[in-house]
Amino acid sequence: MKLAILISGRGSNMDAILTAIRKGHMPQAQPVLVLSNLPEAGGLTIAREKFGLNTEVLVSNDLKGWEYDKNVMTLLQNYEISPTNGLICLAGFMRLLSPQFVSLFRNRIINIHPSLLPSFPGLHAQRKALEYGVKISGCTVHFVDKGLDTGPIIIQKSTPVLQSDTEESLSGRILRDEHLVYPEAIKLITEDRLKISGRMVLINGEH
Ligand code: GAR
Repeated sequence: MKLAILISGRGSNMDAILTAIRKGHMPQAQPVLVLSNLPEAGGLTIAREKFGLNTEVLVSNDLKGWEYDKNVMTLLQNYEISPTNGLICLAGFMRLLSPQFVSLFRNRIINIHPSLLPSFPGLHAQRKALEYGVKISGCTVHFVDKGLDTGPIIIQKSTPVLQSDTEESLSGRILRDEHLVYPEAIKLITEDRLKISGRMVLINGEH
């Protein structure tokens, strides 16, 4: 399965995924491309210099929705990544994909989010969790549907919220867990061990 990893920033989840692949944890996963919507994304350098991967930048130039995503589609086609052979991993990619794109890559796009969804979707999830006063937060890997952080959940991992936590300290602990669960979710998909039934993601036929 050909992986395209989409980023907008430092790329630590991307690094964790590529490291797991390099260590041989997902033999069926073939990373092909790292794409960013921002040229300054630090993850681009890591992808090229640490992993020798192809990187591309598609700046938005005010293109919205499908107008932008069409260009992503063309780029993926250039790298021969298709809805049948590909998996698109959003790793801190701070754009909402259009319904057209999501339909084309149905159940072939996954995302990681720094909260236990459906709590705290969208931006600043860790800050919202702290402000709400929850005692447990965490992270979620999910399939991407047309909503914002609403698709079927693949894996979640909980992280306790400490009384002394700041947004930075909580984000840091959640991030460490993100780095564990994202490669695990990709492994399950590339091994064809997941079935989606409505909102439920069944692992090996059991939930
Ligand atoms: C991660 O914490 C990821 O969960 C979050 O952005 C960060 C990217 O960090 N994504 C979202 O908030 C998506 N709604 P990274 O670039 O170091 O992987």
